[in-house]
Amino acid sequence: MKIYLPLDAAAKALGADDVAKAVQAEAAKRGIDLTLVRNGSRGMVWLEPLLEVETPEGRMAYGPMTVADVAGVFDGSSAKALGRTDDLPWLRAQTRLTFARCGVIDPLSLDDYKAHGGYAGLTRALTMTGAEIVAEVSASGLRGRGGAGFPTGIKWKTVAEAKADQKYIVCNADEGDSGTFADRMIMEGDPFTLIEGMTIAGIACGATKGYVYLRSEYPDAIAVMEQAVRIARTAGLLGASVAGSGFAFDMEIRSGAGAYVCGEETSLLNSLEGKRGVVRAKPPLPALEGFLGKPTVVNNVISLATIPVIFEKGAAFYQNFGLGRSRGTIPLQIAGNVKYGGLYEIAFGLTLGEIIDGIAGGTSSGRPVKAVQVGGPLGAYFPRALFDTPFGYEEYAGKGGLIGHAGITVFDDSADMLKQARFAMEFCAIESCGKCTPCRIGAVRGVETVDRIARGDTAAIPLLTDLCDTMKSGSLCALGGFTPYPVMSALTHFPDDFHATAKEAAE
Ligand code: NAI
Ligand code: SF4
Repeated sequence: MKIYLPLDAAAKALGADDVAKAVQAEAAKRGIDLTLVRNGSRGMVWLEPLLEVETPEGRMAYGPMTVADVAGVFDGSSAKALGRTDDLPWLRAQTRLTFARCGVIDPLSLDDYKAHGGYAGLTRALTMTGAEIVAEVSASGLRGRGGAGFPTGIKWKTVAEAKADQKYIVCNADEGDSGTFADRMIMEGDPFTLIEGMTIAGIACGATKGYVYLRSEYPDAIAVMEQAVRIARTAGLLGASVAGSGFAFDMEIRSGAGAYVCGEETSLLNSLEGKRGVVRAKPPLPALEGFLGKPTVVNNVISLATIPVIFEKGAAFYQNFGLGRSRGTIPLQIAGNVKYGGLYEIAFGLTLGEIIDGIAGGTSSGRPVKAVQVGGPLGAYFPRALFDTPFGYEEYAGKGGLIGHAGITVFDDSADMLKQARFAMEFCAIESCGKCTPCRIGAVRGVETVDRIARGDTAAIPLLTDLCDTMKSGSLCALGGFTPYPVMSALTHFPDDFHATAKEAAE
């Protein structure tokens, strides 16, 4: 009997390890020969721990599992039976390209990875020149999935054409945005896809060394990635001659130390060099002077993990999905006050309303949706009036927002948007690296100004707007520069919450 149960951190937090022990004990009690695979998550967090039993008709899903539900699975009498996993509506409607293997394979089995298309991309890339590889990435239309949406092909071209004795590939796995978990899920559920993507990047750009800067808050991802790197090295897929090609590429996992700003690429590079995580002025771009002053590709986990499928299926295949200048698929991470939270990979273009009312099933509280924050703590709050916005980089920018790392956090009508604006300023004040004045001082003044408004002093509202303008145009990096998005969108779309105390005082 073969059973799958996720080792994913979210599934573990919901009791997957206890369920795994109960499954082993139940099989032993019944004398059943059990193979228990700890897979990645399928992304349906409300069904975790999701147990799957392999059958001739395909995998059968059960969830959310508790220890008490285990015997029922063996008896065939489980009230948690959900039918074939592949038939679950949440999975059927997705276009899983980057996450095609996540939750399907044994994350640390190279054979399983290869049996599901793994290393087909690298094999093809090895038949191409560096310039052809870069051209293929450009043709795919892939843009940086960390949030900024910069064309990945142009970044690689800059590094590939730079002259240097050493170049690096750095993977930004410091996934600090609240409500985001795509990087973690792929690293825990399909680590070889990131290793393969980084290897292709190394060969294309002439970089022989890679680093994954992985946040310390993700101990499970660190453990899986470290093991996967060792396995790939032992198999000759990392090292002096990758897959016997004569190209050298090796990599290491480095752990961060809990600073949000270390997700900013130059601050990350400082931290990786063992220095304090302070933002560097750009230029020089990391693509020209990055890690240890050498040309460096700094890409997010999802950007790099999408490279293998682009090479396996071809740039045209990938480019065919999407909307406008947002090509391919995007792993939406749906969280907050929703009925169905989790990861949903789909081509760009769904409207926010289709995502919230359809996929997420509305709020878990049953109350009306008030606001949706897209793009993490630095993203704008969208009201229902903007639910017709299609998911795409330009489409969100056009409405005063950003898609960021595609984190979507939902709030019902009990949310106080003034408090959310205060939280944004407070977050910035705590996480500021302190290098520039608009952010270091501005965020502290921002908290004080929001507090004045909360006390009924509406004359402070223009001051808050002015402060946001200064932070937006005068900050050195996105932390100070983007904090005005949540603050100003809260003020613009939910003005009543900023006048409530004044109104109460007048009544
Ligand atoms: P940016 O727009 O300055 O740069 C984007 C990327 O393109 C950088 O890697 C930069 O080095 C590169 N680049 C720019 N011009 C280039 C050229 N000519 N050649 C080669 N490379 C070039 O944006 P930044 O500050 O790196 O990132 C801001 C974004 O980060 C925001 O949009 C925000 O959504 C996102 N973000 C993501 C977080 C997360 O947890 N994933 C957290 C906070 C912000
Ligand atoms: Fe540092 Fe804030 Fe300035 Fe960014 S905006 S460099 S985090 S002080």
